[in-house]
Amino acid sequence: MNTTQMTQSTVAVEKIAQQLNQVVADSYGLLGQLHLAHWNVEGTDFLTLHQMFQTQYEELFVAIDDIAERVRAIGHYAEGGIKRLAEMSQVTEGPTASQASARDFVSSVLLAHETVAATALQARQTAAAAGDAETEDLLIGRISIHQKAIWFLNSYLS
Ligand SMILES: [Fe+2]
Repeated sequence: MNTTQMTQSTVAVEKIAQQLNQVVADSYGLLGQLHLAHWNVEGTDFLTLHQMFQTQYEELFVAIDDIAERVRAIGHYAEGGIKRLAEMSQVTEGPTASQASARDFVSSVLLAHETVAATALQARQTAAAAGDAETEDLLIGRISIHQKAIWFLNSYLS
């Protein structure tokens, strides 16, 4: 590998790490929206939604750890801390709990899943271009899970 190739590869790995950290930050944003919805949702669908939001945040919490540790495995540092992640997160804050309907919570969680899926797709494409199949594999798994959640939530709203 010559110097130019090495520099290109270093830059590519740095970009992958930065985008993985963005997935972590956006996932934390989604985690916050899921908790908000889980705690405050009301109405005839309470039990179903309360449990569905919990299933999603439990799965996501474990996944965030895997994504952050992938950042470390490729030689970079993982972003963390609630303030830092909140600054980075691209997830839109959801409705005010006391004024939100079940549909409002579902819509806000749906939007957050879409944001994370889009960020993960960007990171996946960067990893693919750099030939990092392991990061790509991790992200393909994440995107599938967000797509499934998006289907569930859209089905509720339709
Ligand atoms: Fe709970």
